[in-house]
Amino acid sequence: MSQFVVQGGGVLQGTIRVPGDKSISHRSIMLGAIADGETTVRGFLEGEDSLATLRAFREMGVRISEPRGGEVTIEGVGLHGLQPPSHPIDLGNSGTSMRLLCGLLSGQAFTSRLTGDSSLCRRPMARVTGPLLTMGAMITTGAEGRPPLDIVGGRVLTGIQYRMPVASAQVKSALILAGLYATSPTAVTEPAPTRDHTERMLQGFGYPLQRSGATVTVIPGGRLRATTVEVPADISSATFFMVGAAITPGASVTLTDVGVNPTRTGVVNLLRMMGADIRLGNQREVSGEAVADVTVSYAPLHGIVIPEDQVPLAIDEFPALFIAAAVAHGETRLSGARELRVKESDRIQVMADGLHRLGVSAVATED
Ligand code: S3P
Repeated sequence: MSQFVVQGGGVLQGTIRVPGDKSISHRSIMLGAIADGETTVRGFLEGEDSLATLRAFREMGVRISEPRGGEVTIEGVGLHGLQPPSHPIDLGNSGTSMRLLCGLLSGQAFTSRLTGDSSLCRRPMARVTGPLLTMGAMITTGAEGRPPLDIVGGRVLTGIQYRMPVASAQVKSALILAGLYATSPTAVTEPAPTRDHTERMLQGFGYPLQRSGATVTVIPGGRLRATTVEVPADISSATFFMVGAAITPGASVTLTDVGVNPTRTGVVNLLRMMGADIRLGNQREVSGEAVADVTVSYAPLHGIVIPEDQVPLAIDEFPALFIAAAVAHGETRLSGARELRVKESDRIQVMADGLHRLGVSAVATED
């Protein structure tokens, strides 16, 4: 356990590149593993969660180099080349690994077990196992649909048309990955836009999906071709520096190579609504993803009512946004964010408790 002592009153200025995007890092290993040929990933996030995904695929016989300075090579085994793991796959704290792998493994010839740490084993999985069972998968779970997940191999999956009750990129991605192995097309409709990295990256691997409005359809029968994936800097990590600069008089910070996919930029939209001075420079597209250098300079913030359509677009950024809200003039109100309670931690309660300890008035409700 480390202890940090923070003294206020400093300046916040400079240019940094935060580490690679976690969501894209997970997907680069998964898609690289089931592609034909050797994929190179640059900017891979060497964090515990994405390393859990990397190890999971090694346990299924995929040769993956040790990440070095964010570079990883994956010797893809093709859609049907994964091997049965010799023991349960431990995904640590990573909900993204578990949900996406649950979809992918539902379509394999072999049986597997997914487990994780005590926090992951408390998280809801029925949101993925439910529609997967409808496709014909056979999965048994712990109590109330929680991990561990036992996924029976050799099942014939049939495509479904599924309207997701929650806006979740993890659920959408799990069904897309299962859909690659189904005998007919799978169509997933989302109630609000969620991150679309799976769809974009599949396209980069030569496996385009059909998109129409809020529905994405995967047509089975194709193959993935190895490619090079350049992972942008993670906007979720950049958020802490963006908020720091936004609330510190005299501050100006530039974050380079940040992924600014419009399904991830809720934090930029919300901070701007609060009066923040944020500029996106050097905008470009890298590996199918929008990337920019983001400069945030201090400007006084005011409270806002957060529009509900921004919630899925800033789902991982709310803890830091609550700090901006605490410093802003006036009240900020967030609702329709029940999902925050079932993340790695209960992000509503944890932040309300922490803000109270700092003397900030914050009222936590169910959503
Ligand atoms: C993620 C999707 C989000 C997010 C998580 C990563 C992903 O979860 O909170 O950190 O990589 O697909 P939900 O889609 O379940 O909200």
